[in-house]
Amino acid sequence: MKHILVLGGTGFVGAHVCEKLGQAGYRVSVATRKARNASHIQHVPTLTVLELDIHNEQALTQAMQGVDAVVNLVAILHGSAAAFERVHVELPQKIGRACVKNGVKRLVHISALGAHAAHPETAPSNYLRSKSRGEVALQTITGQSQSATQLTVLRPSVIFGAQDQFLNVFAKLQRVFPVMPLACASAKFQPVWVEDVALGVLRCLQLSGAAVKALPVLEAVGPHVLTLKSLVQLAARFSGIGQGRGRPVIGLPRWMGKIQAVILGFMPGEPVMSVDNLDSMRIDNVSAGALPGLQALGIQVASLVAVAPSYLLHDPSDQGLLAIRKRSR
Ligand SMILES: NC(=O)c1ccc[n+]([C@@H]2O[C@H](COP(=O)([O-])OP(=O)(O)OC[C@H]3O[C@@H](n4cnc5c(N)ncnc54)[C@H](OP(=O)(O)O)[C@@H]3O)[C@@H](O)[C@H]2O)c1
Repeated sequence: MKHILVLGGTGFVGAHVCEKLGQAGYRVSVATRKARNASHIQHVPTLTVLELDIHNEQALTQAMQGVDAVVNLVAILHGSAAAFERVHVELPQKIGRACVKNGVKRLVHISALGAHAAHPETAPSNYLRSKSRGEVALQTITGQSQSATQLTVLRPSVIFGAQDQFLNVFAKLQRVFPVMPLACASAKFQPVWVEDVALGVLRCLQLSGAAVKALPVLEAVGPHVLTLKSLVQLAARFSGIGQGRGRPVIGLPRWMGKIQAVILGFMPGEPVMSVDNLDSMRIDNVSAGALPGLQALGIQVASLVAVAPSYLLHDPSDQGLLAIRKRSR
């Protein structure tokens, strides 16, 4: 049985990747900062959880002993330039070196659509610049003559699925607020289903020989291009908010969007939107069509309109008093 080490396996996409790998009969090890973060994936029968500081290169190198392939899904969406550098550039460098040292055959690295390995500095945000530099670092390390590690980079657009922090957040906000002030309302995305991304990771791992070389970088995008405004409206429609009409969306000019993002940054917990997120949306998050997509792996990608209603309709507040209040709106 092949042994796969999954970094970031406790996250939104990672949990689906672990399920797919388990179903396909792989032995899966998931490295996490806190073992309790992995409680929702413990049911995968072939899965082992390793509590590990993956930023410690020695510990990481040790964890890769006897591993056939590594999947890297570790990322942050918010933070300082230094934090992005640490997680998106320095960590991939450590992962790349540890893979090469251990003779790990395959490395699948999840980057992001909009990352630009040829010209990292042209990317519009810290998130995308660091993602770009992370790709370059991995290509350089795994491209060395002594390297037996073959790298595949997967660049997804925004990912939707039952536990997403995207359509679910838009729905949640519209349940609470009477209007939706929205910056970058016309920014475009090509949302991709989390199950398709997870299947993409599995298929990348199953590539062999010339096929690996033929597909060094893939884009993971869905079949439709949608604006941010239409995504907010669809989230409301599928959740039945305001009888499916949702809340009025008020497009904010850039400067106002920045003020909103700065204020949100001071709220407790993960911010809904940061200035860096706004910067990322300066370029549309859609495929230019120059790189292969998930179709090159034999995947027929699902549309958001077909999948999202099935999970957005099941709002946890659909029971008891909250439901009565919701129906009365
Ligand atoms: N979700 C999307 O819409 C989207 C879109 C484009 C690209 N992507 C990319 O897809 C990948 C997976 O995204 P996701 O949404 O599944 O992310 P996620 O849910 O936020 O999970 C991130 C994972 O990274 C680990 N992690 C976070 N910060 C870390 C740190 N400082 N040090 C070490 N580990 C850390 C966490 O593991 P522990 O807490 O267990 O240690 C967690 O399992 C990422 O590369 C992301 O950039 C996602």
